[in-house]
Amino acid sequence: DRPPFILGIETSCDETAAAVVSRGGTREPVVLSNIVYSQIEDHAAYGGVVPEIAARAHAEALGGIVSAALSEAGLGMDDLSAVAATAGPGLIGGLIVGASMARAIAHARDLPFLAINHLEGHALTPRLTHGLAFPYLLLLVSGGHTQIVLVKALGRYERWGTTIDDALGEAFDKTAKLLDLGHPGGPQVERTAIGGDAKRFQLPRPMRGEARLDFSFSGLKTAVRQTAEKAAPLSPGDVRDLCASFQAACADTLADRMARAFARFRAEFPDIAAPVAAIAGGVAANRTIRTALESVADEAGFSIAAPPLALCTDNGAMIAYAGLERYEAGLRDGLDTPVRSRWPL
Ligand code: KG4
Ligand code: ZN
Repeated sequence: DRPPFILGIETSCDETAAAVVSRGGTREPVVLSNIVYSQIEDHAAYGGVVPEIAARAHAEALGGIVSAALSEAGLGMDDLSAVAATAGPGLIGGLIVGASMARAIAHARDLPFLAINHLEGHALTPRLTHGLAFPYLLLLVSGGHTQIVLVKALGRYERWGTTIDDALGEAFDKTAKLLDLGHPGGPQVERTAIGGDAKRFQLPRPMRGEARLDFSFSGLKTAVRQTAEKAAPLSPGDVRDLCASFQAACADTLADRMARAFARFRAEFPDIAAPVAAIAGGVAANRTIRTALESVADEAGFSIAAPPLALCTDNGAMIAYAGLERYEAGLRDGLDTPVRSRWPL
C-alpha cells in the first residue's frame, strides 16, 4: 500500500523551510526533499534576528519554498497525506505565517493538519537519521534552547535540565558581538579560537558540580566581557586565546552536566545495555564541544548520535518527520489550533 507523504513547514525563527518526508520499502523514513532558506543575510546588519523582518521574509519566501519542496519530491499537493507546521515555540509572526500556509493547504485539499512543537521536531530527529529506539537522551543546544531531555516515547518528553538564563548559542553570539566577530557568532568564535590557548584566561564553569541538571551562561558571558575589558586593547592573539578559553568553559560545563545526565539515565534504565544520547541544535556543530561530549559519553558507556548538520539546525524535515510519527499514531489537530510563542515540551 501507498506510504504516507507529509509536508512539513518550519518558520519559528530565521529559517524559512519546507520538506517532504515519507517511508521507504522497509518502512524506514525517507527525506524526499528538504529546502531551507536562511535569512541570516537579512538580519546581519542588526547583529541578531529582528522579529518583524523575519516575519516579512517568511511571508515572501514561504510560497516558493513549499513549491520547491513539493517539486523536488516529485509530488503535487494532491499526493500529500497530511500537512505539518511548527506551531511554537518561537517568534510569533513567523509561526503565524507558517501555520497559516499549512492550514490553508490542509483546508483546500481536505488534508489532516498537524501542529508541531519545534522542540519535538528536534527531539525526534535522531529517529529519522539513526532509527533510534525509545528511550534516549537528547542534548539540544541552539540559539534559543539549551536543554537535556529524556525522550521516552512519542509525546512523552521529560525535561531534565534547561538554562536558567541565556541559551548556549546566545552566549556564543554575544561573545562574538563583544569581540566584534560578526553574526551568527558560533562559527566565528570557533574559527577564531583555532590555535588559541584555552588555558590562558580563567573563566567560570557555571553550575559545575550542581546536582540539578540546569545550565547558566550569563555569568560566563559577563566574565568574558570583564576579561576583555581588563586585557584591552586586545591583540588578535588575545582574541584568539579568549575565544579558545570561552569555548573550553562551554565544553567543560556541558560535559559536567551530561555526565550527571548519563548517571541518572543509568539509574532509571538499568536494563538498557547500549544507551544513546543524541545531540541537536546549531551549537552541536562545534568541534570542541563535540569532542568533549564524545569523551564524557565514552566514559559513561554511552554512544552519541549526531544527525548531519543540515538536520541538526532548524529545517523542515524535522517538522515533517514529527508530523509523520504523529500522523501514524492517529493524532490530528484542528485548523483552529493556535500558535504559541512559548510552548514547553
Ligand atoms: O539550531 P540553530 O540553527 O537555530 C536555533 O537557534 O534554533 O542554532 C543557531 C545557533 C546560533 O546561536 C549559532 O551561533 C550557533 O547555533 N552555532 C554555533 C556553531 N554553529 C552555529 N555555536 C558554536 N559553534 C559553532 N560551530
Ligand atoms: Zn531549533
